[in-house]
Amino acid sequence: MLSKRSLVGVRLNFHTLAVLFFFLIGTQVFAADPAVVESDEAIAAGKSVFNANCKTCHKLDQKMIGPALRGVTDRQSAEWAKSFIKNSSAVIASGDEYATALFAEFNNTVMPAHTFLSDDDLNNLLSYIEFGDKVDPAAAAATAAGGEGAVAAGGGIPTEYLTVIVVVLVIVLLLILIVLGLIISVLTKYINKQDLDADDKEFVSQKFELGKLLKSDGFVIIVTALVIALVAKTAIDGLYSVGVQQGYAPTQPIAYSHALHAGTLEIQCQYCHTGVEIGRSANIPSPNICMNCHTHVQNVQGKDGISPEIQKIYDAVDNNKPIEWVRVHNLPDLAYFNHSQHVKVGGIECQTCHGPIQEMEVVRQHSALTMGWCIDCHRNTEINSQGNEYYDKLVQLHSDSKDALKVKDIGGLECAKCHY
Ligand code: HEC
Ligand code: HEC
Ligand code: HEC
Ligand code: HEC
Ligand code: HEC
Ligand code: HEC
Repeated sequence: MLSKRSLVGVRLNFHTLAVLFFFLIGTQVFAADPAVVESDEAIAAGKSVFNANCKTCHKLDQKMIGPALRGVTDRQSAEWAKSFIKNSSAVIASGDEYATALFAEFNNTVMPAHTFLSDDDLNNLLSYIEFGDKVDPAAAAATAAGGEGAVAAGGGIPTEYLTVIVVVLVIVLLLILIVLGLIISVLTKYINKQDLDADDKEFVSQKFELGKLLKSDGFVIIVTALVIALVAKTAIDGLYSVGVQQGYAPTQPIAYSHALHAGTLEIQCQYCHTGVEIGRSANIPSPNICMNCHTHVQNVQGKDGISPEIQKIYDAVDNNKPIEWVRVHNLPDLAYFNHSQHVKVGGIECQTCHGPIQEMEVVRQHSALTMGWCIDCHRNTEINSQGNEYYDKLVQLHSDSKDALKVKDIGGLECAKCHY
């Protein structure tokens, strides 16, 4: 006859296995790396993002200004790589051991932030980094035989295999669970045939209940751990985007509309933003500029009396008090940006940076205004050399090379140009 203890043993095992099973499912959900896919489209899309933003510093299989990138998702997780690409300084500042060591290895070279890249861009980038421009196997074998490159090319079990292994493990566990369940029911039947006292009977006849599993310590611990992991991840993601205010559109003290004034009425931007061609700041107009028209225009066409919104302009002028517009665009103090350099000298439209302002009822920050955003444009934009003698010479000097003269060629990537 079976002792009570061995029965308890069976129950315990069943319990532990169930818990283990849920734990494995849980870790699998978190470990899954759906980001890096090997599809031709993703690789091609990733390549163009790479060429536009990363090529100056990185190659896939060779060290340049930055490390060779292939295999980064084996060295670290895809999520880590994405955070690092978006804002490496934040990852380094967080004290991440691998990142700090890498940063030191590359003489504290700051990799620009790429917060403007979308999640799709990042996934495509990782696909390109892992699967793009593959060296042909024969050549790879030759290098491997030569000794070098073997480490860079290989490393760890490929993720596809890992997934297969885990799936097989889960199936095996499920089978074990079923077999154990069968054994338990057979044993219970067998024991029930014996003479048992009331105490034993009650013990034997208890059922496996979902409610009990949900209340069990193991289950509670696992769920708590998963929740903590999720919260931590959300908090960390949030921290990376601190200071990036893309899309910011605060409510203004007066319901002033660019769609009406700059759109419908076609008033030139410079009429109000008087600084754009002469200096660093674009300027926000004083109430006096509004009064050029609003001494006469007291309301929208077809309405009588003074509009309450326009009354606010009168109040400001009467009390000699500025209107307290809420600032939308704001670079940190460490960065220097000059409007006239871009609008007058560079010939860049307001909309390139600010988006379709003439359609906005409320101004909204269109671009990320991160360093990566500035650098990206400087790398890709040809300078406006028309009618500028100084540039004519430079362009001539440059005409030997096949590329057009870009902002980067006149120093647009030098730290001191943008930082005091
Ligand atoms: C101005 C040069 C520069 C540019 C541009 C640049 N990087 Fe980097 N990158 C670096 C340096 C330097 C490092 C080494 C870490 C450090 O010093 O911050 C690095 C590290 C990395 C790492 C970590 C590599 C590893 O072995 O773990 C990844 C991933 C990476 N860069 C991806 C990118 C991608 C993707 C882009 C384009 C969107 C890019 N980088 C653009 C300079 C650059
Ligand atoms: C009639 C005057 C007027 C005209 C014309 C005008 N603006 Fe404005 N603009 C304002 C005022 C007032 C504000 C501050 C209130 C706000 O943000 O809506 C402002 C704010 C802005 C801001 C946000 C400033 C910040 O706080 O960061 C941008 C960008 C801007 N204007 C661009 C433009 C562009 C581009 C045009 C031309 C297409 C234009 N404006 C035409 C009056 C004007
Ligand atoms: C060049 C002339 C001109 C200037 C400058 C101008 N406005 Fe206007 N604004 C108008 C006209 C015209 C209307 C009425 C449009 C209509 O009838 O639909 C108007 C309408 C408005 C309205 C809508 C009133 C309502 O009740 O809906 C507000 C608010 C307003 N302006 C604020 C301002 C502010 C603030 C400034 C200064 C930053 C300003 N305007 C500068 C011409 C101007
Ligand atoms: C090359 C990109 C770029 C272009 C082109 C550009 N801006 Fe800006 N604008 C910025 C940046 C960056 C800021 C934030 C500046 C800061 O915080 O020091 C800004 C800020 C502003 C502001 C807020 C006040 C200020 O000066 O800080 C206004 C208003 C504005 N821009 C209007 C315009 C208008 C009007 C034009 C077109 C005539 C224009 N901008 C063209 C990038 C641009
Ligand atoms: C849409 C493209 C674009 C963006 C975005 C942009 N710039 Fe520029 N920038 C230019 C162009 C074009 C010039 C060259 C103007 C000229 O011909 O001198 C320039 C020139 C400069 C220069 C002078 C460089 C030199 O060597 O003389 C500085 C400094 C500068 N930009 C700072 C910034 C900063 C800071 C930002 C981001 C807040 C920024 N730019 C964003 C296009 C851009
Ligand atoms: C074209 C202009 C430009 C150039 C060139 C430039 N920066 Fe920046 N940098 C910026 C702007 C704008 C910011 C603010 C970005 C923000 O608020 O997210 C910034 C921010 C930073 C920060 C703060 C951390 C961060 O990511 O926000 C550091 C550090 C930095 N730059 C270092 C450098 C170094 C080192 C160089 C030279 C290799 C350099 N920058 C060249 C425009 C530039």
